Formats: sequence, C-alpha cells, structure tokens
Amino acid sequence: MADTVLVERTGAVATLTVNRPDKLNALNVEVLRELSRTFHGLLEASEPVRAAVLTGAGKAFVAGADIAAMSELSVAEAKRFSDMGHRLLAMLEAAPFPVIAAVNGFALGGGLELALACDFIYASANAKLGQPEVNLGVIPGFGGTQRLMRRVGAARARELVYTGQQLTAAEAAAMGLVNKVLPPESLLEEAHKTARTIADKGPLAVAAAKRVMTRAEDVPLGVACELEAQAFATLFGSEDQKLGMRAFLARSPAVFTGR
Ligand code: COA
Repeated sequence: MADTVLVERTGAVATLTVNRPDKLNALNVEVLRELSRTFHGLLEASEPVRAAVLTGAGKAFVAGADIAAMSELSVAEAKRFSDMGHRLLAMLEAAPFPVIAAVNGFALGGGLELALACDFIYASANAKLGQPEVNLGVIPGFGGTQRLMRRVGAARARELVYTGQQLTAAEAAAMGLVNKVLPPESLLEEAHKTARTIADKGPLAVAAAKRVMTRAEDVPLGVACELEAQAFATLFGSEDQKLGMRAFLARSPAVFTGR
C-alpha cells in the first residue's frame, strides 16, 4: 500500500503531503495514525524543523473524515475517532514551529479542521472550504465548531456549520480564514517561501510567539499579556537574543542558533 503521508525536508523546512488522492485524502484511522507518526518524527528530528507546510496530493487538500469508514461507527467508536483527530490537531498546535496549510483543493469537514489547526492558511484559487457535516447528520468532530469560531468569529462560524456551505478561496480570504489566495501552480512555492522566511528567524522567538498566541485564545487578556511578558523576558536568557540584537547594532545579518 502507498504511503498515506509523504514527508520531505529542505533544510529546516518540512513538507507533509496527505497522500490518498483516490479518496480525496479522506482521513481514516490509518491516515490519522500516519499523520501523527510522521509529525511526531518531525518533532523529534535531530536537525530541528523550523517551519512546516501541510498539503494534499491530487485535487484535494483533504475532503473530510472518511465517510465510508465512519458510516458504521458505534457511539464509543465515534468518540475514539474524534479523540484521535483532536490529539493530532493538538499536536500540530503545540509544535514549536509554525505549520502553514497549503490548501490545494477541497478542504472540507476534517480537512478544514486540519487546516484550522495549522497556524494559517494559503489556498489555491480553485480551493473549496467548508464544514459540510450537517449534510451527513453529524457535526464537526475534530475541533471545527471551536477553532472556526476563534478564527472567523462566532456568527460566521455558526452560519458555516449550520448550512454546510462551501466557500470559495476568495470568500474564505474575505472573512480572514485564508491569508493568501494563489494560482494553483504557485501555491506550494509561496507557502515554502513564507516557511523559509520564518525558518530564518530566531526559532526560540518564533516558538514563543506561537505558544503565546495559541494559548492567548483560551485565557483572558490580562493573563495572556502576562504570558507574553514572561515569554518575552525568558528570551533574554537566550544566545539568539544576544546575537540577534548585536547583529542589528553591527549592521550584519543574524544567523540564529536556536539556543
Ligand atoms: N470520505 C470518504 N471518501 C471520500 C470522501 C470522504 N470524505 N470524499 C471523497 N471521497 C471519495 C469518493 O467516495 C470517491 O471515491 P470512489 O471513486 O471510490 O467512488 C472519491 O473520493 C472521489 O470523490 P468524488 O465524490 O467522485 O469527487 P467529486 O470531484 O465528484 O466531488 C467532493 C468532490 C469533495 C465534492 C465530494 O467528494 C464530497 O462531497 N465529499 C465529501 C465531503 C464531506 O462531506 N466531507 C465531510 C466529511 S465529515
């Protein structure tokens, strides 16, 4: 059987491709496991990953959780499946490097949920995004009801989840769900360009920014600002802070070490 997730490294940038194109990369247990295993490998890599791009093979990013596999699930099995998705998405969010979703086609249901667990989304002009679960008599089960509200606001998220409407990439960009809409042929190149830009920055700083900005969504502003102040101060104990500021003052480029 073909690998359901492909991984490529170019320096500090990793690219993960969900690779089940005959089923539009639908997420079954095997694909979820493989994504978790592959992503865990990136977290443990001896040469640290500093930014990642997540995309799909063929005409879809991910067209959802696998409907055929879900159709006969019991209540207990459905809970296990949902928990598995939640664990994977939490791992993406907790990673010490940003993950960019390069949405190359359909990002529906679990596909949009996967993209929402990434730091931000670039989409090809032909992409379609939505939470169509109500068409199947269920609701999003991998965090969609929650992350979509946080990303686009409660009112828009409610409308999308209740109607199952599919957005075009341009519509998704207009509501802030997608950062950039790109011609299909330049989507990956642009995502990689941004990933390389991030990978050249102070990795401890980028990781701290991600941690603070992710945590901030769940806590009151005062607590979030305190988290920021702590993280800001902690960075002054790093080699990267010293060499970053000294390089600026010496008018030379900083080459960060991640220490
Ligand atoms: N789960 C399982 N299989 C899926 C799937 C999913 N979420 N999405 C697509 N597939 C499969 C199709 O069953 C088909 O398999 P087959 O060739 O063995 O019959 C194959 O992928 C190609 O899909 P197809 O529907 O023929 O492509 P299309 O271009 O006509 O339509 C979509 C594309 C995305 C509009 C359509 O596949 C779709 O609506 N998928 C389900 C989306 C959804 O509801 N996702 C949320 C799940 S909770």
